[in-house]
Amino acid sequence: MGNSFLVTTAIPDPGLQLLSDAGRVTVLPEPPDYGTLAALCASGEYDVVLTQLRDVMDAPLLADARVKGVSNFAVGYNNIDVEAATRHGILVGNTPGVLTDATADIAMLLILGTARRVVEADRLVRDGKFLGWEPELLLGRDVSGAVLGLAGFGRIARATARRALGFGMEVLFSPRPPGDRPVSYQELGEFAGKVRQVPWNELVARSDFLSLHVPLNDQTRHLVDAEVLGRMKPDAILINTARGPVVDESALAESLRNGTIAGAGLDVFEDEPRLAAGLAELPNTVLLPHVGSATVAVRSEMARLSALNAVAIAEGRTPPHPVNH
Ligand code: DGY
Repeated sequence: MGNSFLVTTAIPDPGLQLLSDAGRVTVLPEPPDYGTLAALCASGEYDVVLTQLRDVMDAPLLADARVKGVSNFAVGYNNIDVEAATRHGILVGNTPGVLTDATADIAMLLILGTARRVVEADRLVRDGKFLGWEPELLLGRDVSGAVLGLAGFGRIARATARRALGFGMEVLFSPRPPGDRPVSYQELGEFAGKVRQVPWNELVARSDFLSLHVPLNDQTRHLVDAEVLGRMKPDAILINTARGPVVDESALAESLRNGTIAGAGLDVFEDEPRLAAGLAELPNTVLLPHVGSATVAVRSEMARLSALNAVAIAEGRTPPHPVNH
């Protein structure tokens, strides 16, 4: 019972229970700022720190950290400099798999919500402006028959493709934009003959809905910038459930304002929780507060997996979901 865990923000019970069965647990009362987190990690009091996406674990912090590992309560780990962690012998774990369907549900919700103008419609009713059925009230666009372009073709993109095919969409994908990586027939598995790989430029130009499913890294930061937005169809809609900085959000706000593209459904933002100037005032957007994985069952599973990773690292074992080795 000599293990000691630092939990930067309380996580659901199944995770906290597993941690307290395996050692001493400190849950911070509020999310730590960078300096506080750095000092706690350097204190030598904790074996493993269980982090959230907002906890920046960069190279200087990791260089001074006296921990065996970092267990991230997320599948993405762009908040952690994994190379630096590896250099300092710090293991990193994440929570893959359990949030795939929930996040794809949110991508589909954003596709439907932007296509059918759900936010404008809801507001109209609440504002008491619904005066009865009208032939031309809040006309949206059809999803069936529309082209969905998937940037990335990992777990969440595939789960989104599955849903979109059910809605009668034509699905195209580009597996590793902006570069190319041919995906073999075998790799396509259940999607063989149902979805088609195209180069990134073609994906951008042909998509009615362009949905982002790439990790955030040096290659994908601002993957969708003013130039890419300018090459999209004027009636296209951008969907982002991946990471905010994949999109140049100021350029997006401007493109939405001047009609370069028709709309956007966003669950993530470039500088969360802040939004680019003007974005919130635009009617042709559906904006969600990063809730892709926010179901009771999924967050419990994420808590369980992140705790299992933390306990394994503390006990000197390889975590069940390692990011580095
Ligand atoms: C993740 O896990 O990376 C999501 O963004 C939050 O659940």
